[in-house]
Amino acid sequence: DADVEPALEAFRSGGPICVHDFADREGETDMIYPATAVTPAAVSRMRNDAGGLVCVAVGHRVAEAFELPFLADALDHPAIDDDPAYDDRSSFSLPVNHHETFTGITDVDRARTITELGNAAAAVDRDPDAYTAEDFAAEFHTPGHVHLLRGAAEGLRERTGHTEFGLALAEATDMPPAAVVCEMLDDESGAALSPADARAYAERQGIPYVEGETLVDALA
Ligand code: 5RP
Ligand code: CA
Ligand code: ZN
Repeated sequence: DADVEPALEAFRSGGPICVHDFADREGETDMIYPATAVTPAAVSRMRNDAGGLVCVAVGHRVAEAFELPFLADALDHPAIDDDPAYDDRSSFSLPVNHHETFTGITDVDRARTITELGNAAAAVDRDPDAYTAEDFAAEFHTPGHVHLLRGAAEGLRERTGHTEFGLALAEATDMPPAAVVCEMLDDESGAALSPADARAYAERQGIPYVEGETLVDALA
């Protein structure tokens, strides 16, 4: 597909790209980067231009090696409700910081946490048995300021959220199975940025914009 190649090319080069899911799902466009490529300037761009929550999606095998639970399974509280209106479940896992951060929230700190998550995912990808939950705990702690997301075991064949779009892009470009996603919000309306406005932003910035349906057709 003509829309997919530029997106893969940009992702391979460190991103970002913009991916709209579906009008009948969240109806949101996320800015997506490979985790290993994220710089403090990229975190700043996500905060200022996208505006949503900065999250790192990790692949199923990585989540298993890290022993990452779904947040809703790890907590025991009456407020837990893992039944979002737009999908069967949320992919939220633990929020983490790298040990060598201070508060964890600055652009420098979040970029450090994100790139180290990418490096850890790459280590699991090379050898799943060589990286354990103890190795993860030696590098990261929770609570923290970067939200981990667990990708579905069957990827886009099982779930078509931005979590899985980011991970499918990583797989298609032979990048480590860790992708940063951040929702694009509209400061004027208080709603999600419309697909038309997200596409216009992407064009102005020279960033590829791609529809979820296109990625499902090409990568699932
Ligand atoms: C985390 C989210 C976002 O929607 C993000 O895009 C990941 O979720 P999903 O895979 O459900 O699209 O809720 O901020
Ligand atoms: Ca969401
Ligand atoms: Zn989403």
